Amino acid sequence: MDSLALEQARGWVAEARQIFVLTGAGISAESGVPTFRDALTGLWERFDPEELATEEAYRRQPALVWQWYQHRRELVAAARPNPAHHALAVLARLKSMTLVTQNIDGLHQKAGSEQVVELHGNLFANKWLDGCGRCDTVPPIPGDPPRCAICGAMMRPGVVWFGEDLPRVARFRADHAAESCDLCLVVGTSGLVYPAAALPGVAKENGARVIVVNPKPSALDETADIVLPAPAGECLPLLWPQAV
Ligand code: APR
Repeated sequence: MDSLALEQARGWVAEARQIFVLTGAGISAESGVPTFRDALTGLWERFDPEELATEEAYRRQPALVWQWYQHRRELVAAARPNPAHHALAVLARLKSMTLVTQNIDGLHQKAGSEQVVELHGNLFANKWLDGCGRCDTVPPIPGDPPRCAICGAMMRPGVVWFGEDLPRVARFRADHAAESCDLCLVVGTSGLVYPAAALPGVAKENGARVIVVNPKPSALDETADIVLPAPAGECLPLLWPQAV
């Protein structure tokens, strides 16, 4: 990593009055959570996650998609936050900051971050698909999604699938954070999925400096004033003092 760029980024963090942080799957990679577009192993290697993460896929193959989410729940439940998650929890105590994540793994919260804006929902939440409003579960057949005892509706994971709107309050808070920050720190996202990927551009248009942390090139490099090409768990703890 270029030490001059690192020094400059440290200075910008120190000077910033309002920080907007946008994280993606890459920040959890060092916790052992595969990034969204990584090939999955074993049972799931034949499936493209993007093809499973739609309502249409769920209606077509509910047991398969439900089991895929159960598999991810088990994997994520065992994961621990890494130094990047911890560093952001520290930063929030040093600075005025909004943490917006595309991740559904809850690792920021496990590291002690509060008021995390979850743009894509949470892996451990459930909701009803076509529910009757009075839905009540019956014990599920193993492997199948639970169904409502009254109307037969299926339960579905409480995450945002492709083609769905973002949760309204999260969207509002993220837009506001992007519009009102003077520093935007983007960590571990490919910058390919909208509307989240548009937020750093909004910050920049409103005059903010933009720092991208990602060991590989991303679609947001063009928006960045500084790119720090390093793993988040190594890079973030170098950007601000860790003792509070
Ligand atoms: N530190 C920082 N970044 C990393 C690390 C690391 N240790 N390891 C990998 N990365 C980067 C990769 O280089 C890649 O650019 O993390 C990025 C992960 O990209 P994606 O898998 O596309 O994840 P993300 O950008 O969060 O995806 C956005 O897409 O499928 C949807 O809803 C899903 O929230 C997800 C959204």
